[in-house]
Amino acid sequence: MSTFPSKLPDAHELNAADSAWMAGMHAQCFDELQRWSASAMAGLLRQPLTRAIGISIHGIPAGFIMARNVAGEGEILTLAVHPDYRRNGIASRLLHAFIEKETTHNLQSLFLEVMVTNQPAIDFYKAHGFEVISKRANYYQMPAGHAQKAMDGYVMNKKLPTSQHIHKSP
Ligand SMILES: CC(C)(COP(=O)(O)OP(=O)(O)OC[C@H]1O[C@@H](n2cnc3c(N)ncnc32)[C@H](O)[C@@H]1OP(=O)(O)O)[C@@H](O)C(=O)NCCC(=O)NCCS
Repeated sequence: MSTFPSKLPDAHELNAADSAWMAGMHAQCFDELQRWSASAMAGLLRQPLTRAIGISIHGIPAGFIMARNVAGEGEILTLAVHPDYRRNGIASRLLHAFIEKETTHNLQSLFLEVMVTNQPAIDFYKAHGFEVISKRANYYQMPAGHAQKAMDGYVMNKKLPTSQHIHKSP
């Protein structure tokens, strides 16, 4: 990996043409249960209220967020940063970029589901003012052959703009 830039590059909008690398990165960030194919990515990106935003480092995709805003209620569908680039503020910048863009579209709150065992992501969202509001039992169904049939998920929520707090926006 080349040197990490001292200033994080700006986030940019993604579209269905980006779905192949997005799926590749998703596979590096999630287990088989949670990863999405390129066609699933492209299908979501064709939905009018869904937006994807990415950041590249030296021209190489480093991370992306996919989220939607339905009548002011935002949902983070996925957020992924390549393992080599983590803890550099990329996910924070992506989250911030989505909130900034959607504030003009009346974004009032954000929610997401996360596997109860995904502590790094839970810590990330908590650092950004999200709270666990409920637990969904057996939300993640495991593929056949797994010792465990399903995993629970947390629903996390953050109100905007009064509690809008971005932990790091370099
Ligand atoms: C969760 C994830 C998106 C975070 O991306 P990132 O670019 O490393 O996050 P940031 O650098 O913006 O982190 C901001 C803050 O969040 C918290 N945080 C992030 N990763 C953390 C970790 N592994 N452990 C504890 N806290 C963490 C910290 O407070 C961090 O600030 P600090 O680095 O100054 O301590 C990344 O780890 C990832 O892609 N994981 C796999 C996919 C996933 O689980 N996605 C989320 C579920 S949808």
